[in-house]
Amino acid sequence: MVHESHRHDHDKGFLAEVRWLRKIRTFWQTDLNRAIVELAAPGPGERGLDVGAGMGAATVLAAKRGAHVVAVEPGGTMRLVCRLRRLFQRARRRIVVEPGVAEDLPLSGDSTEVLWAGNAMHHWVDHEAAFAEFARVLSPGGRLVLVDEDYDDPEHPKHAEFAGHEAEMTPVDVAVVATTMRAVGLEATGSHQKVAGVPAKVIRAVKPG
Ligand SMILES: C[S@@+](CC[C@H](N)C(=O)[O-])C[C@H]1O[C@@H](n2cnc3c(N)ncnc32)[C@H](O)[C@@H]1O
Repeated sequence: MVHESHRHDHDKGFLAEVRWLRKIRTFWQTDLNRAIVELAAPGPGERGLDVGAGMGAATVLAAKRGAHVVAVEPGGTMRLVCRLRRLFQRARRRIVVEPGVAEDLPLSGDSTEVLWAGNAMHHWVDHEAAFAEFARVLSPGGRLVLVDEDYDDPEHPKHAEFAGHEAEMTPVDVAVVATTMRAVGLEATGSHQKVAGVPAKVIRAVKPG
């Protein structure tokens, strides 16, 4: 079930999604998504979860590696694109596209070995609820990787364009995120590092076995 209260205003509505669609060539596949999938390393037969999957860039890469992937995405237009894209994948039987939000995932407990999210953390309006959901759906020993590009870092090539963009969204402080995750029982670390050559905020965590 999707709670409207768990969505930022800019995620609601057709117009916001059309804005994303205009950038389809940029977001169809990105180096960042390739790098996220490398970091998460979903293996053959593993059950993966792409939170805020968008057009499914990371989802299809993970499925190509042999993982079974649930792509959770609140935006109806994004889901439609993701579903159409799925049809053209050899690995389509390993991909399921579901409506939902990080704060209220449409998955049962202990159902996921590996979870990832790209440029999505700052969209989640309730980090405590989201991380409690991650702790619930991950199986014992399961892992997660969250990566948000750090546009506030002057070294980011799009710093001038996007610095401060989190101001109207959910600010992401890696230390706070890691602490919030530890409070729900995940062994989490947060760091600033380059991912696919750009500064990024990276959270990694494991659910104790
Ligand atoms: C910047 S896009 C990134 C999409 C994709 N991960 C990628 O890297 O191409 C952020 C995505 O998060 C989704 N989103 C927004 N609020 C969300 C929430 N509360 N839970 C899960 N996803 C959300 C948006 O609909 C959007 O598709």
